[in-house]
Amino acid sequence: MDADEVFGPPGIEDGRQLWRLARDSKTLDLNSPYSYILWCRDFAATSVVVRSGGRIRGFVTGYNRPEHPGTLFVWQVAVDAAWRGRALAGRMLAYLADRGCRFVEATVTPDNTASDRLFAAFARDRGAELHRTPLLPGELFPGDHEPEELYRIGPLDARPASASGDR
Ligand SMILES: CC(C)(COP(=O)(O)OP(=O)(O)OC[C@H]1O[C@@H](n2cnc3c(N)ncnc32)[C@H](O)[C@@H]1OP(=O)(O)O)[C@@H](O)C(=O)NCCC(=O)NCCS
Repeated sequence: MDADEVFGPPGIEDGRQLWRLARDSKTLDLNSPYSYILWCRDFAATSVVVRSGGRIRGFVTGYNRPEHPGTLFVWQVAVDAAWRGRALAGRMLAYLADRGCRFVEATVTPDNTASDRLFAAFARDRGAELHRTPLLPGELFPGDHEPEELYRIGPLDARPASASGDR
């Protein structure tokens, strides 16, 4: 863990860096810059960025499902390629979970091993169950798209915010 890693919510001035990280990931669906900027305004409390050296090195965007407020849906996770393998993504998930949700959900495509391992490791570290079920078949999408499988993790125990790597 680098001494200057700081975890916290994003602000609207961060939206363009989130867009760049998503673009450079080459894996994530790239949304418009506008959507990342607006996300940083309206979903900052359920999203997190990690800063180091004055730049954003990773982010998780998430929202509480409107009909299921205890369920945090993780929309996108990205870590700068040079910063992977330092548990940044895992610590960002822990940061958000420590802010009080009972379940974490995300969708994962079958070819995304890193994403599968990330959520499996998070469930393991929390001692929580992970259920995988089909959610979005590829035919729902325009053009070619892999099916999206729902990962649902929980129930999670409440933990104090100091239990994760946030500072
Ligand atoms: C997926 C991603 C966010 C992981 O970031 P990271 O900070 O390197 O992940 P962590 O170091 O926190 O690793 C968490 C767990 O996943 C595993 N993992 C991470 N990347 C992996 C990979 N490429 N292959 C296999 N396992 C991997 C780690 O070993 C760890 O498991 P462990 O505790 O059992 O060792 C990063 O690779 C990334 O930005 N990828 C491109 C975007 C993407 O695919 N996002 C996910 C879809 S929303």
